[in-house]
Formats: sequence, structure tokens, C-alpha cells
Amino acid sequence: KGTKNQFVIDAGQKNFGATMCKSCGMIYTASNPEDELQHAQHHHRFLEGIKYTGWKRERVVAEFWDGKIVLVLPHDPSYAIKKVEEVQELVDNELGFQQVVPRCPNKTKTFLFISDEKKVVGCLIAEPIQQAFRVLSEPTSPESPGSRECHRAWRCSNEPVPAVCGISRIWVFRFKRRKRIARRLVDTLRNRFMFGCFLSTNEIAFSDPTPDGKLFAAKYCNT
Ligand code: ACO
Ligand code: ZN
Repeated sequence: KGTKNQFVIDAGQKNFGATMCKSCGMIYTASNPEDELQHAQHHHRFLEGIKYTGWKRERVVAEFWDGKIVLVLPHDPSYAIKKVEEVQELVDNELGFQQVVPRCPNKTKTFLFISDEKKVVGCLIAEPIQQAFRVLSEPTSPESPGSRECHRAWRCSNEPVPAVCGISRIWVFRFKRRKRIARRLVDTLRNRFMFGCFLSTNEIAFSDPTPDGKLFAAKYCNT
């Protein structure tokens, strides 16, 4: 409800520079009609995508004062699968990932963090893996901001190490970051990925991490 109104309010007064929308987080130029159109489209799709209406059968695997984590498995009802696909599309879009087909779609586990405001504000997609490659220490050369390709080119060891669980996506809504949502998603994953055991941080691996992902993973794995 009220997406249109919100859009007008969020865009604020006539603004000729770059604006960040306070509800969807997109940065755009409000004076540029093409940009505005693109924002309007993204805005709508994004808010629809993160909307969570509640399901008759939902698998709540953790509850917190500010929300809950719901686990979606491959054979769940189509409304749950559809929501996961919608969210993954938003996440891939933001990460600049091409649509990647999971290697074993029937073993994927998706954890959604649902906020009190009934929005999907966090998402973690995990799949079983056999091995991973350790990221070697960061190159010391200064990095040029804004070039993702450059940031992603971490050097990895050639020696695979055994691993159990690969995190193919982890994402938290821009305005909900640094509230330990990602941490709680990974904690819950470790508890729920294999029945009856709590995975150690050595047994989980982050695939192709972004700069944010790498900072988070480094912090998470050391604490
Ligand atoms: N810079 C520095 N440290 C960070 C950052 C960051 N951007 N993000 C997390 N950390 C560290 C901090 O030490 C933090 O603790 P603190 O806030 O008490 O200092 C700790 O990690 C825990 O952080 P959380 O609050 O649990 O992380 P958050 O919920 O903000 O989510 C995430 C982190 C998922 C990386 C988020 O920034 C995000 O969605 N970014 C955009 C999408 C993205 O890049 N995802 C990773 C892709 S890689 C992959 O999917 C395998
Ligand atoms: Zn918007």
C-alpha cells in the first residue's frame, strides 16, 4: 500500500544532484527523467520483492526481538520458492551477479531474515560443497574505488581444503546493515545446515566475496 505516495515523499523536493531513495536505497539523479523512470521501476520491484506477507506454513528457525529467520527448502510450497527467487533476483542485481544456476538446486538452503515490519531484510543462500580455497592475504597496492572486478580479484591458494557448506549469497538490506543480521544468519546456518551438529567456521566458505562480504567474513570467522 502507498508505494506511489512513498515514492513522492522519498524523492523529496526537486533535487538536481544524486539522491538516494530512503526506501529502496537506489542512487539516482532526480532531475533526469530516464533515471527517474529507472528508479520508479526498481523501486516498485524492490519493495514488492522484499514484502513478506506471512505464510501458512513457515519454518521459523530463529526468533529475535527485531525479527525472525525463516528457512526455505527446495520442496517447499511454490509461494515460498517464488519469494526466494524474487529476493535472489534483487540480490544478484545488487551484486552484479549473472543469473547463476545452483549446482545442486535440490540441496540449496535459503535463510530469510524477516523484520518486524514484515520485510525480507536479509538473505543467505547456502549449498553443500566438498572443498574450498583459502583467500590469501590482501594485496597491499591501493585499490581504486568503484571497480568491483579489481576488488574481487583476491588471490586464492591452489591447495583446496575440505569444506562442508558454501555460502553462495549473503545480503542485508542497505538500511539494516551493521545490526548483526548477517552474523545471525550465519549462526543460524551453522546450526541448521547439517542435522545435529554445529558447523565450525572452517567448514563454511564464502564464494566470490565482495569487499563488504570479505570484511564481514574476516570479522565473523575471527570471533
Ligand atoms: N565494513 C567493515 N566491517 C564490516 C562490514 C563492512 N561493510 N560489514 C560487516 N562488518 C563486520 C563488522 O565488524 C561487524 O560488526 P560491528 O558492526 O559490530 O563492527 C561484523 O562484521 C558483523 O556484521 P553484521 O552487522 O552481522 O553484517 P551486516 O548485517 O551489516 O551484513 C553484509 C554484512 C551481508 C556483507 C552486508 O554489508 C551486505 O549485504 N552487503 C552488500 C551485499 C554483499 O556484498 N554481500 C556479500 C557478497 S559475497 C557472498 O555473497 C558470498
Ligand atoms: Zn526508491
